[in-house]
Amino acid sequence: MRLTDTADLWWKNAVIYCLDVETFQDGNGDGCGDFVGLTQRIDYFARLGVTCLWLMPFLPTPDRDDGYDITDFYSVDPRLGTLGEFAEFVRTARDRGLRVIADLVVNHTSAEHPWFRSARSSRESPYRDWYVWRDEPPRDGPKGVVFPDKEDSLWEYDENTDQYYLHRFYKHQPDLNVANPAVRDEMARVMGFWLQLGLSGFRVDAVPFFLETAGNADAHQLPDPHDYLVDLRAFLARRQGEAVLLGEVNLPYKDTMAFYGDPEGVGDELTMCFDFVGMQRMYLALARGSSAPLAEALRERPEPPRDAQWATFVRNHDELTLDKLTDDEREEVFAAFGPSEDMQLYGRGLRRRLPPMLGGDMRRVKMVYSLLFSLPGTPVLFYGEEIGMGENLAVEGRAAVRTPMQWEPGPGAGFSTADPERFPAPVTTGEFGPDEVNVRAQRRDPDSLLSWIKRLVEGYRECPELAWGEFEIIDAGDDALFVHRCATPDRAAVIVHNFSDRPLEAELELPDGTLDDVLVDGTLSVRGGRVTVPIEPFGCRWFRHSR
Ligand code: NOJ
Repeated sequence: MRLTDTADLWWKNAVIYCLDVETFQDGNGDGCGDFVGLTQRIDYFARLGVTCLWLMPFLPTPDRDDGYDITDFYSVDPRLGTLGEFAEFVRTARDRGLRVIADLVVNHTSAEHPWFRSARSSRESPYRDWYVWRDEPPRDGPKGVVFPDKEDSLWEYDENTDQYYLHRFYKHQPDLNVANPAVRDEMARVMGFWLQLGLSGFRVDAVPFFLETAGNADAHQLPDPHDYLVDLRAFLARRQGEAVLLGEVNLPYKDTMAFYGDPEGVGDELTMCFDFVGMQRMYLALARGSSAPLAEALRERPEPPRDAQWATFVRNHDELTLDKLTDDEREEVFAAFGPSEDMQLYGRGLRRRLPPMLGGDMRRVKMVYSLLFSLPGTPVLFYGEEIGMGENLAVEGRAAVRTPMQWEPGPGAGFSTADPERFPAPVTTGEFGPDEVNVRAQRRDPDSLLSWIKRLVEGYRECPELAWGEFEIIDAGDDALFVHRCATPDRAAVIVHNFSDRPLEAELELPDGTLDDVLVDGTLSVRGGRVTVPIEPFGCRWFRHSR
């Protein structure tokens, strides 16, 4: 851990907060969240200790995939504001020390994008080759629809030009042909544009999908898909040295590693990859009350290259995917956290947020976030997690977890003063609705989840060894216990979690010295190379170990 590295590689111990502008804060009273409203909330993030905001797509869109269906890469959805208001927002965020990244969707556009409209108007269109066309759906093409409730094929017939186009996601999202150099140039231009306006990088959507061109016609294949990622990263670094690529790569660890770039190098492709495997194994561990599945995943998880980092998360805006578990394991998690069919989605996931999955047991909820902030990796929060928002199962599909942010009690949740009928999504109701769960009530309550998350963020930022140190799992003699240590040459953090509902004592072998509590006041002494750490049911303790 060199000082110059800690000064530059800000993403290694960032706190990333993901939000959707349209559901975060309405600033003009029309019922839709916007940049003016978001800008008014910047001090909220600063107080929470967030260091980087990740904005979900905010570009013009017919909104059939929550903005991931884009019709113009160079402006702001007029419902959310203007480019000027966007620039003011970024400027204000930077003033409070916050960086901003945004989704970059390279894989597809909306079918209503002028490029696709032109492409499908005639085979002679200058944009024809910006998409992937075949006379017949190929046998050797990519497999597997992503949204089996809505699609049964990856190829859609276009009557006008008598060919099929590829769409890895919905049929209203035709895939861009990234093997076409003109498309790659345009995507670089898009990145350059937003960097120029102050972004510090991108969350790159669906990375393996846009790089997989093997099933395309010969003229549509990338010579080496990873060269393209290296190229994107180099372009990014030239334009803006501190900018990052945070990639959505939901693959087994071995395959994900390829997206960091040359394993011998410092990391020249994606800067961060989400740890989908560790996340899924954590839910299995919670379901079993045993830390073993999580410990196995973390033992198996390779170290990213020197300058790269894993991005860790508990929930995101999509379904909680459990696709990397075996069928039996997935059934265990379904039985524990989403037994009824309307909680499940696509046969592989749950459309729920954490607190309702854990039956509102705040001890467990707090323990999970303690894991998020203490395991190696950069924690990524999804808005509302910090106050324990729940899902609204009355809303269709993945949108169940994308309800308006709950600032205050009341039907508008402090999100907007407009008639809730005009909101982009209905507010959550019941036990986890705004009357019970909101920022205002939690802000000054020292026992609230919001105060807990603040304390965890402080602890995490005060212990850079958590992000930079060497990680090891310490055997504590009971599967319900998860003990890990992160050490740099001059410091070490020792963290203890209890996955069970029993009070336990962790017997640890450590060099003599003192364990100073990080989250509460207290110290324990290590004598004769041993220490006993008492820990409450679903408890967690963070220590700094000094000799
Ligand atoms: C991944 C995004 O997370 C998801 O919400 C979206 O539907 C697909 N990519 C398609 O863009």
